[in-house]
Amino acid sequence: MARISIFGIGYVGVVAAACLAKDGHDVIAVDVDAGKIDAINEGLSPIVENGLDDLVKEVVAAGKLSATDDVEYAINNTSASFVCVGTPSAPDGSVGLKYVELVCQNIGAAVAKKDDFHSVIIRSTIVPGSCEGTCIPVLEAASGKKAGAEFGVGYYPEFLRESTAIEDYYDPGLIAFGALDDATRDILTDLNKNLNCQIHTVDLRTAEMVKYTSNIWRAIKVTFANEIGNIAKSCGLDGQSVMEILCSDHKVNMSPYFMRPGFAFGGSCLPKDVRALRHLAAVNNTPAPLLHAVLEANEAQIGKAEAMINSSKATKVGFVGISFKPGTDDMRESPLAELAARLIKTGVVVEIYDPFVHEAYANENSTAGRGNDVVPDLKDRLNPDLSSMIEGSDAIVVGNIYKDTLEELVAVNDKPMIDLTRISRTRVSGDDYHGICW
Ligand SMILES: NC(=O)c1ccc[n+]([C@@H]2O[C@H](COP(=O)([O-])OP(=O)(O)OC[C@H]3O[C@@H](n4cnc5c(N)ncnc54)[C@H](O)[C@@H]3O)[C@@H](O)[C@H]2O)c1
Repeated sequence: MARISIFGIGYVGVVAAACLAKDGHDVIAVDVDAGKIDAINEGLSPIVENGLDDLVKEVVAAGKLSATDDVEYAINNTSASFVCVGTPSAPDGSVGLKYVELVCQNIGAAVAKKDDFHSVIIRSTIVPGSCEGTCIPVLEAASGKKAGAEFGVGYYPEFLRESTAIEDYYDPGLIAFGALDDATRDILTDLNKNLNCQIHTVDLRTAEMVKYTSNIWRAIKVTFANEIGNIAKSCGLDGQSVMEILCSDHKVNMSPYFMRPGFAFGGSCLPKDVRALRHLAAVNNTPAPLLHAVLEANEAQIGKAEAMINSSKATKVGFVGISFKPGTDDMRESPLAELAARLIKTGVVVEIYDPFVHEAYANENSTAGRGNDVVPDLKDRLNPDLSSMIEGSDAIVVGNIYKDTLEELVAVNDKPMIDLTRISRTRVSGDDYHGICW
């Protein structure tokens, strides 16, 4: 069993403290608020949360949880600390780190005087780079010790929801953490080992980003549901019924499908349907800011790819894929076609390898080039020989992945490659390789 100090007895801190104590660990809670410290030591929960009154009463009576404002006492009597203080927005909207900084300073000063190894694990929500840019420097300065060697550092975001916090603690949807050192990683692995949940052990920054991604995703889901509800109501429909039906599809709608960062959406349906619902909302005097933002964001992704290609200074660009997705010759509102057209307009020579669009022309299908109204001379730009297209290009844009092209694309190392889909899961931007979101 571990000995853990928890800094900040707010919603996150007190739930973690009580649940860890219930699991048999020895927990010391630390706060600057005397009222909260007294409440805990009297066996009372300082916050209102389902089941927490009984839990705090039980673990305090069992001698497993106590509270103090004495930082040195807490550090000396535990081997790991969780930092759970608030991170309210700063006036400019940035994450407010003043409480986290102060606690790191206090913990660092106590760690300076402690001989045994101590792990400092941040649980407060902090933007990517905060551990490395703020917490670690403050801890090192205050302790005079080296992070990762003479004391441990971890980032272990909390995902609980108030009102179901204890339930969420024992049945979490997600566990992810990062650690600078093995000792801290082992503590976190051990604390989570009995939970029925996949554990993602990552680096500090990824763990920080996962927390924001989770919260922003929740915020976007609420906003989306509300916007659909408002538009449905404006049509005399029940938005809750509409959303329930949407959510019954676990194959596409409520699944990882469409959740992979990459290039803009396109095709014959999504762009026109977003426009049409946005128009209907406007006709019904119903604001639809999210629908506006969706089209704006999609356009920005095309602009981003264009800027990446322009920075390569290439005058001859080879496109792998031009239809709106692999496996089809359909070019209706293909963002790749739009991207190619913009380059052509600026004088860039564009050649295209797309086996499906090529096949349609080779078979003399009457619908060959279907949906293309932006790329001039499409047929003449098609090159069915990938090697010769690569050879004749200054830069390669990978828009669609075709299985039999992968080996050759992965081997390209003598010219810029702008990858909009990811030819290899392990590739990240560097040297001549530029992934749009990786
Ligand atoms: N509330 C949630 O549901 C939730 C869920 C997940 C993550 N988070 C994140 O966890 C963090 C904590 O959130 P919260 O809602 O528990 O905050 P909170 O405001 O309820 O509690 C913070 C506690 O920290 C204490 N504190 C401030 N300075 C201190 C210091 N120097 N030393 C010791 N204690 C100090 C405060 O007195 C307070 O009791 C935030 O970053 C938040 O974004 C919150």
